Amino acid sequence: MASVSVDEAMRRAIELAARGLGTTSPNPVVGCVLLDADGEVVGEGFHAYAGGPHAEIVALAQAGKRAKGGTAVVTLEPCDHVGRTSPCSTALVQAGVARVVIAVPDPNPVATGGAATLRSAGIRVDVGVREAEAEAGNVAWLTTMRRGWPYVIWKYAATLDGRSAAADGTSMWITSEAARMDVHALRATVDAVVVGVGTVLADDPRLTVRNLRDGSLAIRQPLRVVVDSAGRTPGDARVRDGAARTWVATAAEVGTGPDGGVDLPALLAALRTRGVRAVLLEGGPRLAGAFLAAGLVDRVVGYLAPRLLGAGPAALVDAGVSTIAEAIDLELTDVTQVGPDLRITALPRKREG
Ligand SMILES: NC(=O)c1ccc[n+]([C@@H]2O[C@H](COP(=O)([O-])OP(=O)(O)OC[C@H]3O[C@@H](n4cnc5c(N)ncnc54)[C@H](OP(=O)(O)O)[C@@H]3O)[C@@H](O)[C@H]2O)c1
Repeated sequence: MASVSVDEAMRRAIELAARGLGTTSPNPVVGCVLLDADGEVVGEGFHAYAGGPHAEIVALAQAGKRAKGGTAVVTLEPCDHVGRTSPCSTALVQAGVARVVIAVPDPNPVATGGAATLRSAGIRVDVGVREAEAEAGNVAWLTTMRRGWPYVIWKYAATLDGRSAAADGTSMWITSEAARMDVHALRATVDAVVVGVGTVLADDPRLTVRNLRDGSLAIRQPLRVVVDSAGRTPGDARVRDGAARTWVATAAEVGTGPDGGVDLPALLAALRTRGVRAVLLEGGPRLAGAFLAAGLVDRVVGYLAPRLLGAGPAALVDAGVSTIAEAIDLELTDVTQVGPDLRITALPRKREG
């Protein structure tokens, strides 16, 4: 096999890491490619699920003796602590690799130190190759580690005139089946799906990841969370059907926020404790408004249907904006047509002080 560059190997490692999205929490996604001394690929691995082998261990096992004198190319700094598995730094030293190339340093205080351990064993360590790309692939976990609460994606569906339901309250379905299938794929990458009790009372959604054609459920389901100050979620609501874990988060359990609803920062902190790194906020308009007003949304994903209603509730309510100067500005990062609809992805710009 022909030799590959370290840069090319990192591109592949990032691709491998992405295969773990949605199944590794509370751990990060990690990919690793092992090159022998001639630069040939002799091992590949990714972290597939929490408690399972780390990417480096999988790649080292494939490479066997050919790892000696080679280069390990890994998307995240190898861990240096004994968790459910032994440290990857030690495994790389024992395998006799000559060089380790890392995209992103590990911000997790309990796992960091891998690069120092490798260097003290005489291994050359380079950090920062394809860093931005690897960061983007691991954004939920890295964000959670750095600031202490999970990464929040607000997803909504609306007509071209921004309505989330018709005047009579009907909203199923605003967007096409293709767009809804896309939402299920998005749900499959997160650890928790969050809605307000208003959505449960109006729509009685299941909030599971499933095949829309035959209704079959995915093996791994995100935690379903209903934000419900006073515990109004009916006993026979579909979110209580046992198809996935459900948490009805009440003010009594989580705490009360300044507007009298559930305390949202406390809710996110509690979700982190439950191992959640990525949250999909699926509405409705009032809860989304409260999250945005509090600056707790990291990414917006809007599905816009080429339809007009002219009346009916807006996609967003009370986001703390009363004049145009206070508008929440977004940076568009992607616009994709999904079936007949548009999927628009955007990041809220950081606000001044
Ligand atoms: N098109 C879409 O993407 C989409 C998505 C979802 C829903 N919807 C539509 O939205 C409508 C429901 O709207 P909605 O605004 O009532 O639903 P919602 O945002 O899901 O629920 C709002 C409720 O959440 C509770 N809540 C608890 N803590 C809160 C906090 N800190 N901040 C804000 N709310 C908090 C409040 O009820 P308590 O005070 O009782 O706790 C509040 O009334 C339905 O017609 C549904 O079809 C559309």
